[in-house]
Amino acid sequence: MKRKKIVAGNWKMNMNLDESSKLISDLKEISIKNVDVKIAPSFTNLYHSNSMLTSSKIEVIAQDMHFEKNGAYTGEVSAKMLLGIGINTSIIGHSERRKYFNESNQILSKKVTSAIQHSMQVIFCVGEELSERENNNYFEVIKTQLKEGVFHVDSDQFKNIIIAYEPVWAIGTGMTANSQQIQEMHKFIRDLVQNYFGDEISQNIKILYGGSVKPNSAKEIFSLDDVDGGLIGGASLNFSDFNSIVEAANE
Ligand code: PGA
Repeated sequence: MKRKKIVAGNWKMNMNLDESSKLISDLKEISIKNVDVKIAPSFTNLYHSNSMLTSSKIEVIAQDMHFEKNGAYTGEVSAKMLLGIGINTSIIGHSERRKYFNESNQILSKKVTSAIQHSMQVIFCVGEELSERENNNYFEVIKTQLKEGVFHVDSDQFKNIIIAYEPVWAIGTGMTANSQQIQEMHKFIRDLVQNYFGDEISQNIKILYGGSVKPNSAKEIFSLDDVDGGLIGGASLNFSDFNSIVEAANE
């Protein structure tokens, strides 16, 4: 089954306004054939980035969002606020949110519900720690993250979900999971989706890989049967690297 690939750049807490404007001017020149390209700048740069890209195929997305519509949640940003500036997609459940901000599967499931209720698209991240891989319970970990965090939505809503498999030990470490490890986990995730939501949805769901994807590894990773693109951290901050990774997914 041919699914259109996605390459999404997660800029994390990098790039001030000047730096992001410069990178976006360069990104406008990227040749986009048959691939969906997304970038996730920080909250402070979302509005400006989006205005710079109005006539481009690149979609500007958020790195996170809160589950409430509004209220006394100092420092937080809601789905409604994102929609108000034309942002229709958010990453939810990145391992850095889970780890440094104690976001549990229960909190993440509320975020997913809020995004879906606002008709937003979600890139929902899952991934095991190194110790969990070494203890051989990584399939169980991923299954729990999916069951508790995102499988509560109904089939129609699930069409707005993209899953990103990002083994925590491969994020920002330069240690990419190997092709066999990636393919077997992506297949495992697709099979789980099939159990919960049926054949058609499991064939259409996009499953991205993330964790030290670089220009020299992208092509091989993107050629795997159940990989539908990548969530790119470090390499998305550099025009030439990101361009090469988009190129590897362009077909
Ligand atoms: P990395 O980050 O490409 O720098 O490993 C990936 C991510 O955290 O999404």
